[in-house]
Amino acid sequence: MKTQNILPALALAGGSVAQTPAGFTPSVSAHLDVIFGNTARQPTIGTSKALNGTYVWMMIDLDASTNFANPKAGQQATYLHTVLRDFKSSGKTTDSGVYTLTTTATGPVSWFGPAPPAENPPHPHRYTNLLWEQPANWAIPQAASTMLQSKRSGFNVTDFQKAAGLSDPVFANYFNVTG
Ligand SMILES: *[C@@H]1O[C@H](CO)[C@@H](O)[C@H](O)[C@H]1NC(C)=O
Ligand SMILES: *[C@@H]1O[C@H](CO)[C@@H](O)[C@H](O)[C@H]1NC(C)=O
Repeated sequence: MKTQNILPALALAGGSVAQTPAGFTPSVSAHLDVIFGNTARQPTIGTSKALNGTYVWMMIDLDASTNFANPKAGQQATYLHTVLRDFKSSGKTTDSGVYTLTTTATGPVSWFGPAPPAENPPHPHRYTNLLWEQPANWAIPQAASTMLQSKRSGFNVTDFQKAAGLSDPVFANYFNVTG
């Protein structure tokens, strides 16, 4: 994993540019800050303005393979890394003025960092981060829960969003990690 590739993508500012990769739906225009430390530990997430709601964060690799051990022997497929719920404002900002969000939740899909297998030639993976408003008293419907637990390879965000009773995501970001 070449973590240095994360930084230039994260430096891209908001504006009207889509924060989701070209062709990805749902397309999101508001920028989610995703701040990694020196390791592949769970990043800090936040936004440039204070938020008052409760949020669900997802990280998904759009460029995985159905065959982890030998990517070229598989089909290209999405791979769901992480879904954490109950994010709220931490009441704090980073040195660069990002209003951070925190959660004590470790699920419904616990943190699994970007670590694509090395490939020759190198293969960039677009790790896409989405933030949804979390409905009050959100109980994840069974159909959505089944997707989270057993459809991580080939995960379909649109289908999940519908099954989960979520509106379109409100903030997003993606970065490349080359395997
Ligand atoms: C959050 O709440 C504060 C104080 O009630 C308010 O000033 C601010 O506009 C709210 N922010 C959002 C994004 O709703
Ligand atoms: C997700 O599923 C919908 C049908 O529910 C389909 O139209 C769409 O192309 C799928 N997205 C991907 C990325 O496969």
